[in-house]
Amino acid sequence: MRLVLLGPPGCGKGTQAKRLQGIFGIVQLSTGDMLRAEAASGSDIGLEAAALMHAGQLVPDAMIIALIKARVDQPDCQKGFILDGFPRTLAQAEALDAMLAERHLDIDGVLAIEVDDEDIVTRIAGRFSCSRCGALYHDVFHRPKQDGLCDVCGATEFTRRPDDTAETVRKRLQAYHAQTVPIIEYYGRKGLVRSVDGFGAIAEITEKLTVAIREGTRVD
Ligand code: AP5
Repeated sequence: MRLVLLGPPGCGKGTQAKRLQGIFGIVQLSTGDMLRAEAASGSDIGLEAAALMHAGQLVPDAMIIALIKARVDQPDCQKGFILDGFPRTLAQAEALDAMLAERHLDIDGVLAIEVDDEDIVTRIAGRFSCSRCGALYHDVFHRPKQDGLCDVCGATEFTRRPDDTAETVRKRLQAYHAQTVPIIEYYGRKGLVRSVDGFGAIAEITEKLTVAIREGTRVD
């Protein structure tokens, strides 16, 4: 099964993709995580991407498409994947269609998580993650069960993203409305989109997404 998870920055794509991969046995492909790994490696691509990410802008389509192309042929993607943060522009959506068509594959469903812009800022301001395994937490909405200890791997170090400032979040929201919302319409014309209200408890939203996936898409 191949799914696309869409929605504004901070709507819960990463949180939900991590939970859905366990439920459906498919792998999360997060372009944001891939770019942060490139940036941490200090590669030329990573440094170029980091500057754009910190400014709240999208990185060039060609860079992202090359990252995804290299990833979808890896063995862990054979049972399927859930794309988190890709595609984000019409050019990326068209490149994805072409990439899958070359492999005689297609998209089974597109989940659009809806959260108001005002709630986005609160969510992003409180976000932190485990430095070792990347598990996501929030200062108010999703704290580790034991303070200072990651629920998933037991690590004690946590980090906050440098692009999670109020000013950068506003720019990321602008980029989302200008460049990403049109692809919801693009997939809507293909009858693939299931919209899910992203306001509520994390587990409730996973349940709604699970139902939307089972009802609206083919489950291999
Ligand atoms: P990326 O890492 O993809 O960031 P994003 O899309 O802005 O989304 P976020 O990761 O900020 O949020 P999320 O929706 O995953 O929410 P989360 O689950 O963390 O991209 C970063 C940058 O990389 C981009 O700005 C761009 O520069 C570049 N980039 C990436 N992909 C690209 C592409 N395809 N093309 C071009 N450039 C690209 O949740 C947020 C917080 O809320 C967490 O603390 C979480 O615990 C909490 N939370 C989650 N669910 C709930 C809930 N139901 N209630 C309360 N709190 C909740």
